[in-house]
Amino acid sequence: MGIISKDIGIDLGTSNIRIHVKGRGMVLSEPSVVAINKITGEILAVGNQAKEMVGRTPDNIIAVKPLKDGVIADFEGTRMLIQTLISRVIPKSLFSKPRLVVSIPSGITDVEERAVQGVAYKAGAKDVFLMEEAMAAAIGAKIKVEQPEGSMIVDLGGGTSEMAVLSLGGIVVTNSIKVAGDKLDRDIIEYIKQNFNVIIGEGEAEEVKKQIGAATASMTEEKMSIKGRNLTTGLPQTITVTTDDINKAMKDSLYEILRVIKLTLEETPPEIASDIMERGIVLSGGCSQIKNIDRFISEETGMPVFLAEDPETCVLKGLGMALDSIEILKKTTLARKR
Ligand SMILES: Nc1ncnc2c1ncn2[C@@H]1O[C@H](COP(=O)(O)OP(=O)(O)OP(=O)(O)O)[C@@H](O)[C@H]1O
Ligand SMILES: [Mg+2]
Repeated sequence: MGIISKDIGIDLGTSNIRIHVKGRGMVLSEPSVVAINKITGEILAVGNQAKEMVGRTPDNIIAVKPLKDGVIADFEGTRMLIQTLISRVIPKSLFSKPRLVVSIPSGITDVEERAVQGVAYKAGAKDVFLMEEAMAAAIGAKIKVEQPEGSMIVDLGGGTSEMAVLSLGGIVVTNSIKVAGDKLDRDIIEYIKQNFNVIIGEGEAEEVKKQIGAATASMTEEKMSIKGRNLTTGLPQTITVTTDDINKAMKDSLYEILRVIKLTLEETPPEIASDIMERGIVLSGGCSQIKNIDRFISEETGMPVFLAEDPETCVLKGLGMALDSIEILKKTTLARKR
């Protein structure tokens, strides 16, 4: 079977955890969910398995997202998630201890940073490198980060939106806000509650966002039926929502993201800003797939905006590329040994 690689990249996302093994590429992508027995607190399953269990099993089994707003909210849950998934891609007997490079949001505090490292060591890592998510996304989006010309990446994920201006292999300006996919889902739930007197689930809200959501009022208005529960009668009810509804629901949050993009541009030194004007802003992350979000950002900032290829896996690809080159790894990661 040849040599078993011990270098692993982990994109520890709020919505999805993705794992890259050096020499093999992406080996796994699963929802960042753990299934817990509400009574005993025992973790019963992680990832896809956990998601599938919920709703099909007794009421005392619930799904929990151990990561919130891009950081670890539940240490044990996150450790179990990482450990279980690593052991699934590399059988225990075949490796001693792997070297991990893990992506983190740029707004993370020292305490949160140590929590990520702690989880990785406890999950069995030998060395842990941390790379800022925006840096990983930029490398994965094939931006030439080492060049002296400035470039800008905006990673729109589930828990956080990350903005970074890069030049000469470093981050010149960075900002991060806890407004991203999850918040947009909550906005949709709230809007439907206010305007239809119906409560819908998080899953339904996410589906509506993906299917008919758009960042600008679109010419071709789409419709979608969703099931919820009438707040007055308590009975199930099906309602029909339009792109316009979802656009209105998401508006405030989209402008909040835009405000931080503009702030990041304002904080950028003029020479680098003019490079970005020329080369454009690159979008990555799951929410960069929201219809017209590139156009929305472009119209509001006056900058050209491009969508990265395969935007959801840019961060993981960046981590993988760093594992392939020790120079990139050293230059772009933050902490090294414990
Ligand atoms: N086609 C799509 N259209 C709109 N939104 C989408 C689409 N596909 C995925 N998303 C949204 O993208 C988000 C997940 O993106 P991603 O996988 O980049 O997040 P993450 O890396 O887990 O989170 P974070 O980086 O914030 O910790 C979810 O909110 C999801 O609903
Ligand atoms: Mg992410």
